[in-house]
Amino acid sequence: MLGNFTYCNPTRLHFGEQALEQLAGELKHYGGRVLLAYGGGSIKKNGLYDKVTAILKACGKEVFEVPGVMPNPTVEKLYEGCRVARENNVDLILAVGGGSVCDYAKAVSVSAWCQEDPWDKYFLRMEDVSNPIIPVGCVLTMVGTGSEMNGGAVITHPAQKRKIGHVFGSNVMPRFSILDPTLTYTVPMEQMVAGIYDAFNHICEQYFSGEDDNTTDYIAEGLMRSLVASSRIALRQPENYEARSNIMWAATWALNTLLAMGKSTDWEVHMIGQSIGAYTNATHGMTLSAVSLAYYRYIMADGLAKFGRFAVNVWGIDPAGKSAEALAEAGLAAMERWMEELGVARNIRQLGVTEDMLEGIADGAFLMTGGYRTLTRNDVLNILKASM
Ligand code: NZQ
Ligand code: ZN
Repeated sequence: MLGNFTYCNPTRLHFGEQALEQLAGELKHYGGRVLLAYGGGSIKKNGLYDKVTAILKACGKEVFEVPGVMPNPTVEKLYEGCRVARENNVDLILAVGGGSVCDYAKAVSVSAWCQEDPWDKYFLRMEDVSNPIIPVGCVLTMVGTGSEMNGGAVITHPAQKRKIGHVFGSNVMPRFSILDPTLTYTVPMEQMVAGIYDAFNHICEQYFSGEDDNTTDYIAEGLMRSLVASSRIALRQPENYEARSNIMWAATWALNTLLAMGKSTDWEVHMIGQSIGAYTNATHGMTLSAVSLAYYRYIMADGLAKFGRFAVNVWGIDPAGKSAEALAEAGLAAMERWMEELGVARNIRQLGVTEDMLEGIADGAFLMTGGYRTLTRNDVLNILKASM
């Protein structure tokens, strides 16, 4: 049975080719001082930086920049963005990039006027925001995280070996996001497949929980099927608009709060993946793919009916003549074959994990209670060993 919920997602999306033309209209709603945040240079190479700055200039904005937002943005980088935002009293933070830049913009948004250390307050103590928030807008260039339409911000503290996400409320979600699938054509293949697997796993995290018959799970199955079908086309034809636009749209819905409505959710793969990221700085989607199969096989017996349903409804496996266990395993085997096609990481050694890191990674992985099994630290260690 669906639990009770209130659903509101305030992010206005502009989707499609030439969606960037909508940026000027959005900028009218904000004051004249804009903080432009972007990554390590891809937007300069592909010409997007010039287009965005031309629009900002035409709208009469004064622009302050934080370039060099790295994948898995760090707490030091967060402090830098807070200084620039505060010193220039900016009215809007415009993120132009992937999930890292969008997450970063939200982290700066809540931290610039925070009286305490934002790492301690938001990421260690998980407290709510109690200071003014700077509005955020996004121009998305890389698909996967859903950051363009959610309140998530994941920050890494390299010295403390912790990578932690805070899911902020709807007041922190981007006010608008521009989603033009053609802006993702220049994403390297390795990042494209990591993003696709990230989005797929967001759906898994919300699907593998609960035993009831609810609409949210049917939506999840449809999104997973769309991602699998479109990814197979995008692998062969990276500039296939239909495939890239389907992937972009599915990834946004995979993590914009909809799939969590009225049901419990798991997120253990992400907790383990984030801890691996804190130790290795590996690409987020790859940290998930590298532990997923070991994790799902570890917990399969606790959610057998749902794993069987996954096999039939997502992978089209014929249940006739199969035991519940065999059907569930056939679904995971089909997922494994698809992961091979994508070429995503399937062990953590290839991400740079060594034996001496395993205890620390297990310490850094939060133990979630919403999935089919609440792990112990020892379970996490077993899964990590099985993922080597
Ligand atoms: O930095 P640049 O030069 O822009 O290059 C980036 C980066 O190297 C490149 N890229 C992005 N768009 C491109 C492009 N290269 C060429 N052409 C383009 N159009 O791709 C690389 C990866 O970018 P990044 O933003 O790091 O990737 P992603 O979107 O996967 O974001 C990962 C971050 O998001 C967090 C992850 O933990 C990680 O820190 N997540 C955020 C979530 C959320 N807000 O809800 C949920 C996720 O589970 C995830 O944890
Ligand atoms: Zn993710």
